[in-house]
Amino acid sequence: MPGRAESGSMDIPQHRLLVTGVPGPRSRRLAARRAAAVASGVGSTMPVFAAHAGGGVLVDVDGNHFIDLGSGIAVTTVGASAPRVVAAVQEQAAAFTHTCFMVTPYEGYVAVAEALNRLTPGWHEKRTALFNSGAEAVENAVKIARSATGRHGIAVFDHAYHGRTNLTLAMTAKETPYKRGFGPFAGEVVRAPLSYPFRDGPAVDGPAAAIRAIDEIRRQAAVEDLAALVIEPIQGEGGFIEPAPGFLPALASWCRANGVVFVADEVQTGFARTGAMFACDHEGVVPDLIVMAKGIAGGLPLSAVTGRADLMDAPQVGGLGGTYGGNPLACAAALAAIETVEAGDLVARAAAIGDLMRTRLRGLRAADPRIGDVRGRGAMIAVELVEPGTTTPDPALARAVAAAVHQQGVIVLTCGTDGNVLRLLPPLSISDDLLAEGLDVLAGSLAATSPLQRAGAGR
Ligand SMILES: Cc1ncc(COP(=O)(O)O)c(C=O)c1O
Repeated sequence: MPGRAESGSMDIPQHRLLVTGVPGPRSRRLAARRAAAVASGVGSTMPVFAAHAGGGVLVDVDGNHFIDLGSGIAVTTVGASAPRVVAAVQEQAAAFTHTCFMVTPYEGYVAVAEALNRLTPGWHEKRTALFNSGAEAVENAVKIARSATGRHGIAVFDHAYHGRTNLTLAMTAKETPYKRGFGPFAGEVVRAPLSYPFRDGPAVDGPAAAIRAIDEIRRQAAVEDLAALVIEPIQGEGGFIEPAPGFLPALASWCRANGVVFVADEVQTGFARTGAMFACDHEGVVPDLIVMAKGIAGGLPLSAVTGRADLMDAPQVGGLGGTYGGNPLACAAALAAIETVEAGDLVARAAAIGDLMRTRLRGLRAADPRIGDVRGRGAMIAVELVEPGTTTPDPALARAVAAAVHQQGVIVLTCGTDGNVLRLLPPLSISDDLLAEGLDVLAGSLAATSPLQRAGAGR
């Protein structure tokens, strides 16, 4: 349904509209209650509190309508109140909300596993286990790889983000805010350089970057001790870094040759987001294990590990699971979200959204030397901001532009190890008109943000 959006059950008007300042009085009152009740370590990008969301719009408690270019960090790919998801969750809630799959199993869990075995790359025999969050699924992928190989070491990459639990923080690269003060972290994690075309330049192509990474892994660990290599096919929090062609296939074949489990962390890139069902599909890479979350269930908390049956079946019975893993409401939502993606050909819609965003943003880049790079695939596009004529990150500019965009009724996020990347992750239910308007606001904010204005911004 290109260019037209189903807003969802609340039938939210699909327009940008500011009826108060940002934040408005109701959001300010809630912010005061929040400050007194919620731990301050939990941050928020936007200063407003949500009341409704759907299509390409989020409405705050003051009645302001924001264009959503964030999807709750790549979660509401099918929209924040997609009709099929809403109906499926309502129906399931009326039947039962929980039994615990480890106590009394139910069909929804099995149906999600069947769907993921069908949709994930590769035609080999697969199995799936369901969890609650991306981090929990990454941890379980590591457990499965260790159990299957009898090895312990894990290889990860510069700029990686794999979550906030102890092991996944050891795997995550960025120190502040994620890791500072929270160690010591799990050991036996080695870190390798990523292929980062904007910073590597043309001299380091994908295969050369893979050799560089493998050399570094070998320097830090004996290959026979390495259980898994875990990689985001396109990095999320690290700055939407898309490795040069050939990097992922070279790493996958090195893993295969050395008995290392190749784990694709598709928590952010999965489920149509990048204009393919999974980002690995762009280069025909078939991971041994694939980790999914975020877009999997239309906003309900669900995550999964899917992979080769021989690996997935390695842990002892009872070794995998959790009280809520594969909760029935989340499974119903996932089946409805998958149906929405397939029925609406949202893979093609993501690709079209990507074309629209890239064309507009590359036009801006041609005229603005502060835009070092515009990259990404599908509805996952980044704008890397730098000091003009260099590759030196400019996080103050990114903060200032994002703040200006927010004030004008558009939700946009930042990312990157240096915090200098604007990232665009619209729901695939957004209309072309709204998307174009959101990009207009971004373009205007960039143009209006002078070095003087940004000096004090957001610090
Ligand atoms: C690639 C990747 N892996 C893992 C995670 C962790 O997911 P969660 O926040 O659901 O634990 C994220 C979250 O942003 C992610 O982007």
